[in-house]
Order: sequence, then structure tokens, then C-alpha cells
Amino acid sequence: MPVKPTRDPAIADKPGQCWSLHRGDALDAYVDWPRPALIMSDGAYGVGGFPGDPRTPDDLVGWYAPHVECWSKYALAATTLWFWNTEIGWATVHPLLAASGWDYVQTVVWDKGVSHIAGNVNGDTIRQFPVTTEVCVFYRRRLEFETPEGIMSAKQWLRHEWQRAGLPLHRANEACGVANAATRKYLTQDWLWYFPPPEMMERLVAFANRHGDPHGAPYYSIDGASPLTAAEWSRMRDVWTHAHGLTNVWAQPALHGSERYKGNGVRSAPRVHNPGRQAAVHLNQKPIEFMRRIVAAATRPGDVVWEPFGGLCSASAAAVTLGRRAYAAEQVEHFADIAEQRLAEATTGEHDDL
Ligand SMILES: C[S@@+](CC[C@H](N)C(=O)[O-])C[C@H]1O[C@@H](n2cnc3c(N)ncnc32)[C@H](O)[C@@H]1O
Repeated sequence: MPVKPTRDPAIADKPGQCWSLHRGDALDAYVDWPRPALIMSDGAYGVGGFPGDPRTPDDLVGWYAPHVECWSKYALAATTLWFWNTEIGWATVHPLLAASGWDYVQTVVWDKGVSHIAGNVNGDTIRQFPVTTEVCVFYRRRLEFETPEGIMSAKQWLRHEWQRAGLPLHRANEACGVANAATRKYLTQDWLWYFPPPEMMERLVAFANRHGDPHGAPYYSIDGASPLTAAEWSRMRDVWTHAHGLTNVWAQPALHGSERYKGNGVRSAPRVHNPGRQAAVHLNQKPIEFMRRIVAAATRPGDVVWEPFGGLCSASAAAVTLGRRAYAAEQVEHFADIAEQRLAEATTGEHDDL
């Protein structure tokens, strides 16, 4: 579904365009980008994979720290982060992400298959099981509420406000118009807790404010002045559109020469030399189908997708073809040239082989 121009300052001056590519350091761009629904990170791996990628994962925390600080600052309550890396690269950066308010959800494993082993063996790797994987780790922004009694998770806050209103737990069922499911699902503190759908949350909020102790009102308020609305509650939850049949293991060979985007007008751009393999414009290009899966599952049409480490901007190209608005950065000029062409093609829908 094509998305037409938006009012975002970065793309408003380019009619018909629903992407913006910053040619330079992403750290200089974040402040100007609209706040994201999804951040697709495919940055340093600690394998010397692109100019500026450290040779080992040891300093990945230092490499990512300023970016994570910005992501955390500009994220919305419902922003999700998808962090591509090697297993050890991700494990190294995970404590930083967790300490910055990103909750681990799951790991998607890219299984490149046995063909990936060919040419990738050396004196060290011959003494271990051959590695044919990369990971993409899904994080949610941690949802917390500040109260005079301290910071609370959504689960704690729901019950806390109900009890602060002086209401017995079983009356949540009456509030929601159900026999017993509301108390059990929304006010429990165990692992069977459910995030109330907006219409149920609206009923709980209305009931607490109508029947609760008037002295403590408003209940379930973010600003301390007015009770939470269904729309506000809905914006606190990340989007998820389920794709039947997909698991967290995605089997697909690494991209080969002919599958790599090379662009039309910039075929003479410098190529990365990759001994023993076909020349490629960018060795780290991800399968666009993977990016489509993630963007389709975790955003809605019109949502903003950030791709700070663009390369050939696979996530942004996927986002544009799915009617989302993409904000990418790429600091190497010839990658940016090709990415720009790819994004232009994604906008017009002229080519399928993005
Ligand atoms: C792993 S590649 C991304 C490949 C991309 N996912 C694709 O499918 O084409 C990382 C890219 O990020 C770029 N990069 C690294 N640090 C950056 C930064 N701070 N700002 C902008 N681009 C950066 C590198 O030049 C490199 O092209």
C-alpha cells in the first residue's frame, strides 16, 4: 500500500517521497528525525566487516553507546528495536541495551545453511562447529510508570491503582462486564498477566474513577490531572501483526552476487573486494524479505522506521514498499549513492528486485 507525502520536515520538501537518507553520521541525524515506531540496527559486528567496524567485538559497547543513548531518548513507549549481529556481538551489547530500558523479547536466527561454510574456514574455525548463523534480536521499550511509591511495571501499576482506589479486586470483573476473567487476567501479578486491550482498560479506568475513593482521584492518570484514555493506552503497546507459519529461525542462504542490489545508474561505483566470491557493492546487505517480515509484523502503514546504519538501506526499502516512512543514515558516500537509487526505485515501485 503506497504511502504518499507526509508532513515530516525531512521529507516534506520532496513531494511523493516517503524516505529520507542522511549522508553522514546517524548521530547527527536522530534529532531531526520523527520519533520511530521501529529501529532497525545493523551496525558494527566486531568483525571488520565495513570501514569503521572494529576487528573484534571487545569494544562494541563503546561503539554502540552513543547510539543507544539517542534511541532511548527518542523512542516512544511502543518503539521496538531489532538488533542484528553475531551471537557474541549481541551478547556483548545486550547488557547496555538492558540497562538503557530495552526489554529482550526474542532472538531471530538467520540460518544461512551449509553452503555458507565454503571458503569460511581457517585454522581456528576448523576446530569448532561451522558457524552459519547471524541473529536479529527483538527488544521492546520497557513500559514503566512513575508513582509516589516508586517506578512500577504496567502489571504492578494496574493493580496498584485499583487498590489505591479502595476497590476489591473482584470488582474488576464488574467493570469489564465479564464473569471472572478481568481480575484474573489484568490484576494478577503472576506470569498469566495480560495487557488489557484498550476497550477493557477504558472500562477499568472509568470504573475506578467513578466508584473509587474520591480523595485519591484521578486513578490511572499519566499527568496526575486526567484519567488515561483508551487511545493513550493503545499507544503504549508495540504493534504486532502475526504472520502464520513463521518461527524465529529463518533459513535462507546469504545473498549471492546476482541477488545483491547493484543499482542502475551507479554500476561503476567502487566495489568491495571479497576474495573468492563475486564482487558485491556491499557485503553486509541483508535479504530484503527478512526486513519486510519485521517491518510488516511490528509497524503499521504510515509508521516511522529508523535505519541508522543504512548500507544499501534494505530495511528502508522494505519499509517504503510497505507504505511506512523510512529514515536512514549512511556515512560512506558510494553506499549512500546506491542506497538513494534503491529507495527511489522502492518509492516508484518500478523494480521488484530491490
Ligand atoms: C552492516 S552494514 C548495513 C547493511 C544494511 N543492513 C543492508 O542491508 O544494506 C552497516 C553500514 O552502516 C554504516 N555506518 C556505520 N556507522 C555509521 C554511522 N554512525 N552513521 C551512518 N552510517 C554508519 C557503514 O558504512 C555500513 O555501510
